[in-house]
Amino acid sequence: MPHPLEQLRDEALRQIESATDEQALETTRVKYLGRSGSISSWGEKMKALAKEEKPVVGKLLNEVRNAVTAAIETRNAQFHLQRESGALAKIDISLPGTPHEIGSLHPLHQMHERGIQIFRRMGFALAEGPDVETEWYCFDALNTPPDHPARNEQDTFYLSDGRLLRTHTSTVQIRAMESAPPPLRVIASGAAYRRDEVDATHSAQFHQIEGLYVDENVSVADLKGELEFFMRELFGPGTDVQFRPHYFPFTEPSLEVYVRSKALKRGKQWIEVAGCGMVHPAVFEAVIKARDDKAYDPEKWSGYAFGLGMDRLAMILFDIPDIRLFAQNDLRFLRQFA
Ligand code: DAH
Repeated sequence: MPHPLEQLRDEALRQIESATDEQALETTRVKYLGRSGSISSWGEKMKALAKEEKPVVGKLLNEVRNAVTAAIETRNAQFHLQRESGALAKIDISLPGTPHEIGSLHPLHQMHERGIQIFRRMGFALAEGPDVETEWYCFDALNTPPDHPARNEQDTFYLSDGRLLRTHTSTVQIRAMESAPPPLRVIASGAAYRRDEVDATHSAQFHQIEGLYVDENVSVADLKGELEFFMRELFGPGTDVQFRPHYFPFTEPSLEVYVRSKALKRGKQWIEVAGCGMVHPAVFEAVIKARDDKAYDPEKWSGYAFGLGMDRLAMILFDIPDIRLFAQNDLRFLRQFA
């Protein structure tokens, strides 16, 4: 004759096996293992048993409880699996998936990368500075006096704390010289901002690659040679480069760079692409003050600097008619450069 606990166990196992859903299974669990379930209540009944019976029945109670608990868990797992495979069966795996659109680099970004690659081969290191600048880095240190038109509120974006959005990347010249002694050979690539009237060739945000080379005996010939090399690498060997006298406060002499290339649509036209010149001694003096040493003694060192208009270069190279296209995010435009 089996013990009543064993009978309870067999009965519970049969009900678990025949439960048709999770709810029926839960009802069975409560019936046997709930607080006043028929198996659980044996905990109370034990108290009335004779001393020598207690350990035997206690052990049996444990075994029964474990067996029933395990059976419930197994059955629950089966229901879970059924539910999942049911959901999977509804998915038609022969349908085409949702394709990922793969992006590509913006044409201006591509232009910067091409420019940086060429300068890297020429031995320039990459320097950087912030877009939000102080007047000192943007103007004073670059020999640009307070009454210069570039500092006018109509031409520059000022913040309420007196800082401004840099109007050119020439700011990085000063930052680079502050942080390292000569000889120095750096480029800086990034955005610049002006309160220009926006049209097909002007944008409030534009992009430049700045260059600075400081060493002993640097001459205009070095400057011309290197920029000519750069333009021919970019636009091909049939490229003419012309230097025209100009004025910038931070260079003396100052030049503007024009290119003309048979390889381009506008092949017959001279197009202005950069400003450049020999670093003005007043710029070195500003750096001497900032560094508080004579590392950039203008008697010993000379240098050239340049600023390339990257939007302009990209427009020429990719034959883009309107600078506003760069910022409009029109996929029909951007896809042409993917
Ligand atoms: N910063 C000038 C501009 O944005 C361009 C320029 C001219 C940069 C001469 C230079 C330079 O480094 O030497 O118009």
